[in-house]
Amino acid sequence: MPGQAQIAAAAEIIREGGLVAFPTETVYGLGADAANPAALRRLYAVKRRPPSHPVIVHLAGAGEIDEWAREVPDFARSLAAACWPGPLTLVLRRSPLVPDEVTGGADTVALRVPDQATALALIAASGGGLAAPSANRFGRVSPTTAQAVREELDGDVEMVLDDGPCRVGVESTVLDCTSARPQILRPGGLPAEELARLLGFEVRESAGAGPRAPGTLPSHYAPSAVVELHERTHVAARASELLAEGRLPAVLCQGPPPPGIPGGALLLASPVDPADYARVLYARLREADARGAQVIIAVTPAPEGIGRAVADRLDRAAARRG
Ligand code: TXA
Ligand code: MG
Repeated sequence: MPGQAQIAAAAEIIREGGLVAFPTETVYGLGADAANPAALRRLYAVKRRPPSHPVIVHLAGAGEIDEWAREVPDFARSLAAACWPGPLTLVLRRSPLVPDEVTGGADTVALRVPDQATALALIAASGGGLAAPSANRFGRVSPTTAQAVREELDGDVEMVLDDGPCRVGVESTVLDCTSARPQILRPGGLPAEELARLLGFEVRESAGAGPRAPGTLPSHYAPSAVVELHERTHVAARASELLAEGRLPAVLCQGPPPPGIPGGALLLASPVDPADYARVLYARLREADARGAQVIIAVTPAPEGIGRAVADRLDRAAARRG
């Protein structure tokens, strides 16, 4: 974990309007002072993200909700109390203090408290909210190690805080709390089943209703290789077919690899536990690119618990065209 001196130096960069990449429990974030419009514009430029796309504000604790949001419903306060720090982002009506650059001009703001010691130390030391999208270029695979951040953002950020690989591996669950019936805008690290247990009622995923939400575009989270989703029983045949065409396949699946995968194919990972699948997903997609795979043959996990977030990201990666 980075020492106090490094955290202090990072906080100084943030206060001066600079950018610091930092670990969270989900993925690495690219942080800027959420109250500084110039810093936010630079954040969007480095990320190459269109300015209408909102970012999450990371807070040190649930006590800061009312600085950033207004008309916070009781159920959202209960979820914050139960789940923060943790991989849950609450979309709430924004307070007048929130700059337009954070919300993409919308009347709502997304807030979360990350469950990661370095992140919390940085937020506390910088003394405010930390606006942070995932520390990748727009549309690409989120980074789960400091090395992946450095490879992608290179000289564009003032500092990268390294605290090892992320524990969860997929982004936070984004929950719209602006109506009486909360809706999941993006499945993520906190499963819908857990939200339902805490709330006492089922929580649905919005049917793509959320406009302008990058993590909710059909095509996103994409490596350079083409991603294809297949049934387990079809993996070996598809790998052979690709090899015969002179294309290098890489296989990513849950559980023991299906039998008959030809020797020429790369086997990326085959975690048994869906939480492990989530943890390794982005690193393995990056590895496939690094090893020159042209097609990733993925078998999605059952869409239950955190498996739902993994299936969602693979769907979006597979939706990329061209
Ligand atoms: O785990 C995470 O959430 C990571 C770490 C760094 O905290 N952050 C992350 O940020 O994934 P980003 O910017 O890549 O994705 C933010 C998601 C997007 O799906 C975005 O549309 C949604 O949150 N979001 C942010 N503000 C919103 C708002 N006001 N209304 C609706 N959705 C919002
Ligand atoms: Mg992202």
